[in-house]
Amino acid sequence: MRILYLNGPNLNLLGTREPEKYGRTTLAEIEAQVRKRGAELHATIEFRQTNLEGELVNWIQEAKGKFDSIVLNAAAYTHTSIALRDAIAAVQVPTIEIHLSNVHAREEFRHKSLIAPVCRGQITGFGAQSYLLALDAAVSGNQG
Ligand code: DQA
Repeated sequence: MRILYLNGPNLNLLGTREPEKYGRTTLAEIEAQVRKRGAELHATIEFRQTNLEGELVNWIQEAKGKFDSIVLNAAAYTHTSIALRDAIAAVQVPTIEIHLSNVHAREEFRHKSLIAPVCRGQITGFGAQSYLLALDAAVSGNQG
C-alpha cells in the first residue's frame, strides 16, 4: 500500500500559523506521526508540501500507477481550484480530502469544496488527527 500525502499552501507554517485554528503541531511532527502509523500498517508513505497549485496538479498526475491512494489537504485551493478537481478526476487514484479545522464551522467561503465530489470522502475538523484518520481510511478502503 503506497500512500501519497499532499499538502497545499501555508501548511508549511503549521505550528505558528493561527494556532487557535490549526493547533501547535508542525507539519514535520504530523509527518512523523503519519510515518510511524504507516510503518505499523505496512504502508509506504510519501509526504510533500507546496505553495503552488500547479505543483499539486503535477504530483496528482504523477501519482497514477505509483500510489494506491492520495491524502490531500489542498488548504485554500480546496475552495477555488477546478484544476485540482480535474486532476483528481482524470487520474482516478482514490483521494481522501482532509482538513485540520472543521471547514463547515468556519466562514461560508470554506463550506464549498470543489474537490469533494471527486474524492472518496472528507475528513475535517480533527486537527493533526485528521491525517491519521485518513491513513486508516486509505488502508481499510483498499481492502474493500
Ligand atoms: C485547511 C482549511 C482551509 O480552509 C484553509 O484554507 C487552510 C487549511 C485546514 O486544514 O483546516 O489553509 O485546509
